[in-house]
Amino acid sequence: MCGIIGYVGDRPCYELIVRGLERLEYRGYDSAGFALLDADNDRYALVRAVGKLEDLRAATVGADGLEGPTTGIGHTRWATHGKVTLPNAHPHVSNDGRVAVVMNGIIENYVELRRRLQDEGVVFASETDTEVLPHLLARHYEGDIVAAVQAVLPQLSGHYAFVASHTSEPGRLVAVRHECPLVVGVGVNEMFLASAIPAFLGETREVIYPENDEIVVVDRDAVHIYDGFGTEVTRPTRTWEGSEEAAEKGGYDTFMLKEIHEQPAALWDTIGSRLGADGSISLDGIGIDDHVLARVDAVHIVACGTSYHAGLAGRYLIEDWARIPVSVEVASEYRYRTCLAGPGDLVIGITQSGETADTLAAMRVARERGAHVVALTNQTDSQAARDANGVLLTRAGLEIGVAATKTHTAQIMALAVLALKLGRMRWSLTEAGVRDLSEELRRLPDAIEQYLLSSAPADVAAVAAKYVDKGFFLYLGRHVGVPVCFEGALKLKEISYVPTEAYPAGEMKHGPIALLDEGSPVVVVAPDGHVFDKVISNIQEVRARGARVIAVATEGNEEIALHADDVLWAPRTPALLSPITTIVPLQLFAYEIAKGKGLNVDKPRNLAKTVTVE
Ligand code: G6P
Repeated sequence: MCGIIGYVGDRPCYELIVRGLERLEYRGYDSAGFALLDADNDRYALVRAVGKLEDLRAATVGADGLEGPTTGIGHTRWATHGKVTLPNAHPHVSNDGRVAVVMNGIIENYVELRRRLQDEGVVFASETDTEVLPHLLARHYEGDIVAAVQAVLPQLSGHYAFVASHTSEPGRLVAVRHECPLVVGVGVNEMFLASAIPAFLGETREVIYPENDEIVVVDRDAVHIYDGFGTEVTRPTRTWEGSEEAAEKGGYDTFMLKEIHEQPAALWDTIGSRLGADGSISLDGIGIDDHVLARVDAVHIVACGTSYHAGLAGRYLIEDWARIPVSVEVASEYRYRTCLAGPGDLVIGITQSGETADTLAAMRVARERGAHVVALTNQTDSQAARDANGVLLTRAGLEIGVAATKTHTAQIMALAVLALKLGRMRWSLTEAGVRDLSEELRRLPDAIEQYLLSSAPADVAAVAAKYVDKGFFLYLGRHVGVPVCFEGALKLKEISYVPTEAYPAGEMKHGPIALLDEGSPVVVVAPDGHVFDKVISNIQEVRARGARVIAVATEGNEEIALHADDVLWAPRTPALLSPITTIVPLQLFAYEIAKGKGLNVDKPRNLAKTVTVE
């Protein structure tokens, strides 16, 4: 999704802005640009380019006025309104050339605003919704950009974060967020504004988090924040504790591979402080009293993408261990259905970023109905965390690869802890049962670490090499294998662009089997467990049609080799926890196929790390 960076300070900011944009690349984008304000000649040096940041740097060759300016705004655009073209790239500038704006999000009533401005004689240069902003601000400007922003805000509907500048006020940026992320980086004689902290990592770790609809004014040596009534408010400055190194690749070829290998640490950190050696379980931060949790009638999980698949895996755990009915739904559907969640229900929004627009909206709908809402997120300071009654935190660290890996397994781990606690509170698990299962959870990080250090990843690479030219993959599984199929198939299609289909194996005969012929690759998730024999029958059925079977099976299973053409091994764990282990070889499998095709796995085409628009 779009990335924003802004700078005011003592230093020439061209490099700071472009470097900030590079640090936001992981969010996904299709064009980029910046505007630097040259105070001496009262105008912007505006450079934009379609494509990657290399294209933007190339576009600066021969451009004037880049060296001096110490105020600037930059943007990576992920197209929503208007095609991927140069005129649609940000920043957008008013007709008089005095106001420049970058924005993330959507202004939903832009058609009406645009028509009104055109009637008043404004000429639009782009098809974007954003462009209404510089024109509106220019029309309301009477010597004070803050007052202009104040006048414009009530006219906007949608969800957005924007940063604006005016040539008459060099050394000042004004920003507002409404349901979209925006943070302030506080430096010494310099300030940053950004859609995410990595944009200014390396320059400062001191961060201010403005609330929705507050007007943020940054000068080189001060930050002022005003509420909707124009009253100044104080927001604390906090030190960001994440490691800077996390934003680098740490010796791996790609962030995705690094993050796959960080799973043991992510899992361990997620359960570390929650599972006591004495069998105690802490849901610290969840914001719901134990006696309320113990009595919930139903659990509803809402999420998107990979987080949704974690929810599907978590359903088996909560239903089995806590005996509570669980529904799992993609947030973009849930938000528009008749919501029947109520005060007796627990609604869990799973979102690693805590900023996915549909998940936030689904959580809001449930809160309005009086349900207890928990954000299962990797970001303590995210919008989801702020909107919910409480937070169930994963401690996976910053994830940069667009295709989620470590946050996914950490989410399932967090759901397992919740399921354990619920099971204990409702007496569906005995004390001894909880102790045994806690022990299994604690064993997982180490088991995955051993796996990743063994020859297994190389074995996966060797299997993947055989299938790199295949044009379609079918993924099949049963029971807990189903969400693993969904996630494995998503990983492959996201980064290798190969079409995949994922199906419950029992449904295969109702359609997907028609896709198979001689040599079709079928990935079958077949961990040890009560449906293993059923899965073997499905393997026979696909092999009878000439398909080649790549099975994902539990280490030490001697039978599987008799039925599969290739086997990807996964560490041994109880069946219900196997989605945490069996997905790892499938992450590696997808990775190897994409690498084999020479693709950029960290930045797959058209995808964004965080989808902050509906
Ligand atoms: C995008 C990302 C996925 C992610 C999904 C949900 O589609 O590319 O990797 O799973 O958003 O993101 P969230 O931050 O809500 O977990």
